[in-house]
Amino acid sequence: MKTIFILTSGGDAPGMNAAVRAVAKVAAAAGVRTVGVLDGYDGLMDGKWKDLTQPGESGLAVIPELDSAGSLGGTLIGSARSARFRTVEGRREAIARLHDAAGLIVVGGDGSLTGAHLLSKECELPILGIPASIDNDIGCTATAIGVDTALNTIVESCDRICDTAISHRRAFVVEVMGRHSGYLAMASAIAAGADAVLFREQAGSEEDIVSTVSKAIRAAFDSEVGKRRVLILKAEGVDIPCTRLVRRVEETLSPVLPGVEIRATVLGHLVRGGRPSFQDRMVAARLGRAAVAALLRGERDQMVGWQKATQSGLPTEDPSVYRYPLAQVLAETKALLDGTSPVTKWRVKMMSEMSGVLGL
Ligand code: F6P
Repeated sequence: MKTIFILTSGGDAPGMNAAVRAVAKVAAAAGVRTVGVLDGYDGLMDGKWKDLTQPGESGLAVIPELDSAGSLGGTLIGSARSARFRTVEGRREAIARLHDAAGLIVVGGDGSLTGAHLLSKECELPILGIPASIDNDIGCTATAIGVDTALNTIVESCDRICDTAISHRRAFVVEVMGRHSGYLAMASAIAAGADAVLFREQAGSEEDIVSTVSKAIRAAFDSEVGKRRVLILKAEGVDIPCTRLVRRVEETLSPVLPGVEIRATVLGHLVRGGRPSFQDRMVAARLGRAAVAALLRGERDQMVGWQKATQSGLPTEDPSVYRYPLAQVLAETKALLDGTSPVTKWRVKMMSEMSGVLGL
């Protein structure tokens, strides 16, 4: 029987399970078995997997576990960041394990899609990528699985923090994930009504950062303005620990705002967990469906991306899903992260324009 292998790799993202469920269901409907590889590329090299489909009343059906897993965060088939798979020997082991497969679907971010591209170059198998990363740092896709849920979690956390901040007339620096991309900080700053946002792509010095935060707090707590809270969103990639930033801002402000109270909260991995939002489930399901269809047609070395409207991609049966060569995806991802992409330039420009507006 034809078999599709699927793995989730890199940082987990809410909605990965919904993608796995969709792939297994769409494949089952086409009479194709789906095997879930355990713990990403490590499980592929070690031959560790489980059947996600089983014989049903009329043909194939998915295993019952998938029904509830689709609405859960994390990934039920496990994930890993595999150093071994980065070696040619590791990938050779993986290719040997896939000798009977009709194809492989890789759900993950930059590193995972790089692995999929390398594997595609080293074997003939149809390999399709599905973008999943809360950081929204993958090229050729307007969003990735997990982004929407992560943003909702951040915004809700900020609302809660603001409840206590307003009660005590305090300023908070809230750090969110995004080692290489400030997207989560930028987008959530607008939605949470933050007074300022700090992200790596701004490339300011520590002095600039301390000055930005100090100015935002001073302006808000000015007796004329009389705000009761200050919210500063900081991306993880901004190279100053929250505690140090708070201490330095307190030192700067103590002569002009004696007794000012500033607190820091690092949301960290809290942002990566939780039940996927409607949007993440819906995007995951539709990307999953398109990936199976492309794979069964024999397409290879591509990623399915979510786009509202584009003239550039190769169409699929879904008007919001396009296919892109993995080489193009990885080049655009690199440009997103090194700041040369028009998307990153636009984000930075927009946030710079917003810097005079956020604190009002
Ligand atoms: O998933 C991407 C990401 O969330 C980054 O924003 C973050 O820096 C990193 O993962 C953390 O990875 P780990 O869970 O391996 O510490």
